[in-house]
Amino acid sequence: MRVTSSSPFETEEIGRRLGRLLKAGDIVCLFGDLGAGKTTMVKGIASSFGISSRDVTSASFTVIAGYPVTPPFYHIDLYRIESPDDLESTGIWDIIGGESVSVIEWAERLGDEKLVQSVRVYFEEPAEDIRVITIEGINEENWSDMQARQA
Ligand SMILES: Nc1ncnc2c1ncn2[C@@H]1O[C@H](COP(=O)(O)OP(=O)(O)OP(=O)(O)O)[C@@H](O)[C@H]1O
Ligand SMILES: [Mg+2]
Repeated sequence: MRVTSSSPFETEEIGRRLGRLLKAGDIVCLFGDLGAGKTTMVKGIASSFGISSRDVTSASFTVIAGYPVTPPFYHIDLYRIESPDDLESTGIWDIIGGESVSVIEWAERLGDEKLVQSVRVYFEEPAEDIRVITIEGINEENWSDMQARQA
């Protein structure tokens, strides 16, 4: 599924909608360049779990930020991960999946084979404020229902 956002606010709103479709165990992998809008979307996703978007930051030294909500919510940023050893030492494999919901920036650092069961979000930046956002791995009927209700 592909949607277009023309502002950070819209990207956050798309995140909020996506968040409403998630359930415990889901892993959302975000792919896009620096400044693509990944953290902006995480703010939206987090808000649908009752987390204030102000509490979601792009603190680049925090690889894993956990939030004590139900289900537990994790914002993971792998930008600084450079090797499989780095990745291993984050403890990520004990955190994602299971009963928690995780959203991962720079998910390409995970290595492909682990992504099969996840929701995947790809950002393209065709113009300064425009983002084309492709979402894979969600039930598109549920997404459409939600849009219809909110229209
Ligand atoms: N439609 C849009 N959606 C999201 N962000 C937008 C949009 N248009 C402009 N922007 C700007 O793009 C930037 C997105 O920043 P954000 O931190 O979300 O990106 P990121 O992908 O997390 O970057 P990084 O790789 O550094 O973590 C912000 O400065 C925001 O104002
Ligand atoms: Mg970011």
